Amino acid sequence: MPGSTADVRAFRGEILDFVGDPATLGETAWRHFADGVLVVRGGKVAAVGPAAAMLAAIPDGAVVTDYRGKLILPGFVDTHVHYAQTDMIASHGAQLLEWLEKYTFPAEARFADPEHARDVAAFFVAELLRNGTTTAMVFATTHKVSVDAIFEAARARSMRVIAGKVLTDRHVPQAVRDTAESGYDDSRALIQQWHGRERLAYAVTPRFAPTSTERQLDLCGRLLEEHPDVFLQSHVAENLGEVAWVAELYPWSRSYLDVYDHFGLLRERAVYAHCIHLDAMDRKRMADTGTAMSFCATSNLFLGSGLFNLQAAHECGARVGLGTDVGAGTTLSMLRTMEESYKVCQLAGQSLSPMQAFYLATLGGAAALYLEDRIGNFDIGKEADFVVLDPKATPHLARRMERTTTLAERLFAFMIMGDDRAVHATHVLGALAHARAGG
Ligand code: GUN
Ligand code: ZN
Repeated sequence: MPGSTADVRAFRGEILDFVGDPATLGETAWRHFADGVLVVRGGKVAAVGPAAAMLAAIPDGAVVTDYRGKLILPGFVDTHVHYAQTDMIASHGAQLLEWLEKYTFPAEARFADPEHARDVAAFFVAELLRNGTTTAMVFATTHKVSVDAIFEAARARSMRVIAGKVLTDRHVPQAVRDTAESGYDDSRALIQQWHGRERLAYAVTPRFAPTSTERQLDLCGRLLEEHPDVFLQSHVAENLGEVAWVAELYPWSRSYLDVYDHFGLLRERAVYAHCIHLDAMDRKRMADTGTAMSFCATSNLFLGSGLFNLQAAHECGARVGLGTDVGAGTTLSMLRTMEESYKVCQLAGQSLSPMQAFYLATLGGAAALYLEDRIGNFDIGKEADFVVLDPKATPHLARRMERTTTLAERLFAFMIMGDDRAVHATHVLGALAHARAGG
């Protein structure tokens, strides 16, 4: 490994990453080094392999961080979350439509104030890192300043964030309403200001079909035509009351998903949260258009929305990632989200393997966001975002870990018992971005 040692860093520990979906590839889907070394140069992965072979190749003078006894994984990818709902998480007693009216819209109205937006954005980004999440696809609010705030906060921490201004020109209070034209103009300006800047990318963000007019959805399609490399994020088929409302508002549509299809909003780099009440034609359409699904287990259980069908999603061939969906989701921890995903699958008579759960939280999420060429595993040249998990994070976890014999058992213990306490450290582009207090 010739060249300057100044920007070379190495990390020694147990290392695991995925090269594909374990549901398809079986044991060839992952790479595992019980005692491995990850070498980072200039923020990118330069090499990964067994310590015995790697240590001799590390240039003299390069700093080696010793994470032996811990597990190094690619940083977690949260494919759906609302930063403006940080402060109203755990709001009691309502299903989706009432929950939006009662808690969500009032909380989001506060983001007209840039100072409030900056304060929440800085906290939110720090919490992601504390939980080992290094990439997220994020809803801001209707207010342009709320988008500036989340991008500025992400940029300050060098994080990869996709975000966008929420488009809502009907059926919401005035304080969180735009118009089809103002939403279009603001989105365009924000794309010009932020999209492709460092690690930031823009997502056209219609909240969901009931809160946009047909004119607004049409303009979303136009934004995507004019800026083909931007992203799109929205919600679909989360709650039965919502599905019935969409059928009333769009009587011409074959299904809820068909509304988005009609306006050209099913495509690569489009991510829809929930995707619960879909039929086979919908799923096929998502797969055929390269549209991704975000499985938001804690949110779906919290709001009583229904059970995501991971097996059907897998069988149709659509891209799937995991989303926390805070604040309907109950945690920013992807470990806890994996736990609840497992339980949702159990209720549907499906068994989510720990390998597949960790794939979904890393490379699967990256693929759902069409970022698998940059993040998601330790392929050479990828951005070196990673999380370091501590199997001794709590007394009970340590005790359970002592009784495991396989990697799959250990991963399962992490995802069922782990939370932010299990995140020993988070690195972004190789640099330490979070270290758990007390070591
Ligand atoms: N559908 C439309 N808006 C929202 C939201 O903020 N959260 C959830 N879970 N579903 C939505
Ligand atoms: Zn959401």
